[in-house]
Amino acid sequence: MSARPVRIAVVPGDGIGREVVDEVVRLAELLRSAGALNAAWQEFDWGAERFLATGHALPEGGLRQLRGFDAVLAGAFGDPRVPDAEYMREILFGMRVELDLYVNMRPVRCLDERLNPLKHVRADDIDLVIMRENTEGLYCGAGGLVSPGSEHEMALQEMVVTRRGVERIVRAAFELAQSRKRRKVTMVDKGNALRFAGKVWQETFRDVAKGFPEVATEHLYADVAAMEMVRNPARFDVIVTENLLGDLLSDLAAMLGGGLGLAASGNINPGRVSMFEPVHGSAPDIVGTGRACPLAAFASFALLLRHVGRGDLGSALDGAVLEVVRGGTVTPDLGGTCTTSEVGEAVCASVLKRIEA
Ligand code: NAD
Ligand code: IPM
Ligand code: MN
Repeated sequence: MSARPVRIAVVPGDGIGREVVDEVVRLAELLRSAGALNAAWQEFDWGAERFLATGHALPEGGLRQLRGFDAVLAGAFGDPRVPDAEYMREILFGMRVELDLYVNMRPVRCLDERLNPLKHVRADDIDLVIMRENTEGLYCGAGGLVSPGSEHEMALQEMVVTRRGVERIVRAAFELAQSRKRRKVTMVDKGNALRFAGKVWQETFRDVAKGFPEVATEHLYADVAAMEMVRNPARFDVIVTENLLGDLLSDLAAMLGGGLGLAASGNINPGRVSMFEPVHGSAPDIVGTGRACPLAAFASFALLLRHVGRGDLGSALDGAVLEVVRGGTVTPDLGGTCTTSEVGEAVCASVLKRIEA
């Protein structure tokens, strides 16, 4: 056990974010009691409830506080009682930008043939990672409204693409590909329509690729990439792409692995405090019903454990997720009849069994 506790900030957020994060915290507590994880966590109540009560989604200087942690575990943000999503962007984009979490890593594997939605491929063929640029693109917030409310109203939403920003995410994608079996990076953009952004992405991709001669490369336009993900997902290993395109492709890819209930993500700045969260949102349609699948949150926690140097526990947790999926201990979205906490209990039991073995 390490001498200093791993410091984890926990930000459950809204809706099912709270429900799935509770299951992960239960696991962390069990690991701590078992002496397997020397961790200290602090919870932050940032989200819609706080916004409705105080007018602020998070306190002044809150984001800076996160720098005192090794990692952040987040749930989801978004609440139908607050139609203006600005509070949610403040938290989510606040964390991504303030901590400069430029890699949004979204791995997808299909863990069981029963979850494979495609009749023409095998579950084993679905094993890819989306490396989504996480700090620029159309998400930079630049723009504004001209003549708001008038018949001449015009919205400008600008896209920012810097060579440095593209370079670092592309490099992270190649480094990841180098450590994987298939060693391939597919760069996805929309350079045929977006000429300036396309130029920077394509030139930078070519330049970075020169440093990784053992990694195969290809380029696809985003529309074709979406089609190929359904037609022949086996062609993908590591996908690197722009922020908005990565958002769209990652929900599509999640479906190849059984759905959002299983899709994990890491918002990463390598070697620095990083944030881990399920890809899904707050799912207001199922909140409070016990139908939320906590496996995406568990799988995100496994990524977090790896990030803080506990790859052993990350592997145990991935093994547990695989075991409950294959055993059919799953919520209705994955074809089962279990509740959120029943799945959580099964994961905890499986992890404990693995670390005692
Ligand atoms: P969503 O991901 O919340 O839900 C989409 C569909 O998937 C829903 O039918 C939902 O029930 C289902 N689903 C999602 N996660 C599930 C799980 N763990 N188990 C079982 N079913 C699950 O997307 P949405 O409905 O478009 O968004 C709801 C709110 O969440 C919005 O405010 C949106 O902006 C926000 N959102 C936040 C994040 C985030 O915090 N990172 C991500 C996506 C969406
Ligand atoms: C995600 C979400 C967010 C995004 C939303 C909630 C702004 O869809 O994390 O994938 O677009 O990044
Ligand atoms: Mn998304």
